[in-house]
Amino acid sequence: MPETGEKAAGLKMAEIAFLLNGTPVRVSGDAPTRTLLDFLREIKGLSGTKEGCNEGDCGACTVMVTDESGAARALNSCILFLPQLQGKAVRTVEGLSGPKGEMHPVQSAMVDHHGSQCGFCTPGFCVSMAVGHLDGRSDHDTVLAGNLCRCTGYAPIIRAAKAAETAAVPDWMATDAVQLKAQAQSDGAGMGALDAFATWYEANPDATLIAGATDVGLWVTKQLRDLPKPTFLGAIAGLNQIERHGDMLRFGAGVTIEALRSAIAPLHPSFAEMLRRFASLQVRNAATIGGNIANGSPIGDAPPALIALGATLHLRKGATRRDMALEDFFLEYRKQDRLPGEFVEAVSLPISAPAMRVYKLSKRFDQDISAVCAGFNVSVSGGVATTARLAFGGMAGVPKRAAATEAALIGKPWNLETLAAAKDALAQDFTPLTDMRASAAYRLVAAQNMLTRYFHDLAGHTVSVLEVTP
Ligand SMILES: Cc1cc2nc3c(=O)[nH]c(=O)nc-3n(C[C@H](O)[C@H](O)[C@H](O)COP(=O)(O)OP(=O)(O)OC[C@H]3O[C@@H](n4cnc5c(N)ncnc54)[C@H](O)[C@@H]3O)c2cc1C
Ligand code: FES
Ligand code: FES
Repeated sequence: MPETGEKAAGLKMAEIAFLLNGTPVRVSGDAPTRTLLDFLREIKGLSGTKEGCNEGDCGACTVMVTDESGAARALNSCILFLPQLQGKAVRTVEGLSGPKGEMHPVQSAMVDHHGSQCGFCTPGFCVSMAVGHLDGRSDHDTVLAGNLCRCTGYAPIIRAAKAAETAAVPDWMATDAVQLKAQAQSDGAGMGALDAFATWYEANPDATLIAGATDVGLWVTKQLRDLPKPTFLGAIAGLNQIERHGDMLRFGAGVTIEALRSAIAPLHPSFAEMLRRFASLQVRNAATIGGNIANGSPIGDAPPALIALGATLHLRKGATRRDMALEDFFLEYRKQDRLPGEFVEAVSLPISAPAMRVYKLSKRFDQDISAVCAGFNVSVSGGVATTARLAFGGMAGVPKRAAATEAALIGKPWNLETLAAAKDALAQDFTPLTDMRASAAYRLVAAQNMLTRYFHDLAGHTVSVLEVTP
C-alpha cells in the first residue's frame, strides 16, 4: 500500500515494492523523499542513469516506468520519490539491452547514426527513444524535447530514432507489463480510498501533499528542504479519473498534464498544442493538473487556459465540498483560497469552446517557462463581441482575467478599432514585473500583440510560426 493517509505520517517510509529491470526490489526504512536517481546510483550501483541538472530539465536521468495498467512512461528519476514507484516497474538504460546483452534497436541505431559523442546524455536519450519506440511514436521532436544534448547535435539522434521506427519491439521490453499484471492478480492491487484520505488530511493539515512531484521534487533536490508528513496522492483511486458530466469534462486532480493534453486535443486543439510545450514529455508524464493549480504559480500554464474556458474548481475538506470559478481561487501571489486540510479534488471545463485559443510565449520553444501565457475565449454574434474571457499568466502575481480589456470588447463590433481600444485597456489591467524572463514593457506589448494574433487567428489567418513555410 503506498504512502497515503496515515502511512505517510511517519518520516520513515513504509515498505515500497517495485520491479527494477525485471527484478523485484523492496525498500524500507529510507526517507520517503529519497529520489529514484539517488537510489539507482548510490544504492544499486546503476550508474548508467546520469545526474545532470537534478531538477527535471535535462533528461539525463530518464527512466521508463510501467504502471499497473501496462502503460509505460518516460520519467525524470531525479525528481521522482521512491514511494511514487509502489507497484510499478522501472527500467533503466541497463535494462534496455536483452538478456544476452543484445542491444535495443534504438541503441544500435544510435551507434549506426553517430548519435553520441561525450555520451553523457545518451542513456537518457536511449530510454526516451525506447519508450517512444514501444509506443510506436514517430513524433521524435516531441518525445525528445526533454533530453538535452550539448555536443552531438540533434540531427544524428533524430535520424537514429527514425531508423529504429520499423524495428520490432524486443520481447524483453514487454515483460514488465506482463509481470505487473500477474503481480496485481496475486496481490490484489491496492489503491488508497479518496474518502479515507480526505478524513485523514482534514486531521493532518500540516502534511505535504505530493502529486507528480515536479514542483515539490525541487524543494528537496534544490532547496534541500525537509518536508513535513510527505503524503503521496498518486495512488489514491478517485483522483485520476476523467469523466463527462453533461456538457462538462471533469478531470480528477491527479490527472497528468499529458493525459489532459490527450483528452482535450480533439476538443480544444489550441490548448492541447500549448500543453505540448508545457515542460517536456517526462515532466508532463508526472505533473498533474491539480498540482499545477494548487501550486498557485503566476506562470503556471494551465490556469490561464482553464480560466478562459470558464473552468470550475472542486475543493474538498473531509466530507465538505465546495466549487468555485477557477479565477477566484488565486487571491494574491502564492496565496490561494484553500483552507487548512482542504485539497483540490477536480476541475471541470466545458467540452465546447470553438473560439478558445491559448498562446504561450517563452524564450525557448520547447521545455521553457512562460514569460506570458494567455487564454482567450470571445463569442462573436452578428459581428458583435457578446462575451469575453481573457486570462493571462506572467502579467501579475496570480493568473488573472483582464477585466478592463474584456469590458472594452463586450457589446462592441468585433473589428480592428475595437481591438485597438482593448489593447489600450490592457495597460489598466496589468502592471507586469521585470524579471529574467522578460521586462515589464515587453510583457505588456507581447500581451497586446497576442490580442492581435487572436483576432487574426479567429479570422482563419496563419498565426503560428510552425505554419510558416519557406
Ligand atoms: C523541468 C520543469 C519544467 C516545467 N515546466 C513547466 C511549464 O512549462 N509550465 C508549467 O505550468 N509548469 C511547469 N513546471 C512546473 C510543474 O511541472 C507544474 O506546476 C506541475 O503541474 C505540478 O504538478 P505536480 O503534480 O508535479 O505537483 P507537485 O509538485 O506534486 O505539487 C505542487 C504543489 O501542489 C500541491 N498539490 C498537489 N496536488 C494537490 C491537490 N490535489 N490538492 C492540493 N494541493 C496539491 C503540493 O502540495 C505542492 O504545493 C515545470 C517543472 C519542471 C521541473
Ligand atoms: S538530472 Fe536533469 S532531468 Fe534529471
Ligand atoms: S553526446 Fe555529449 S551531451 Fe550529448
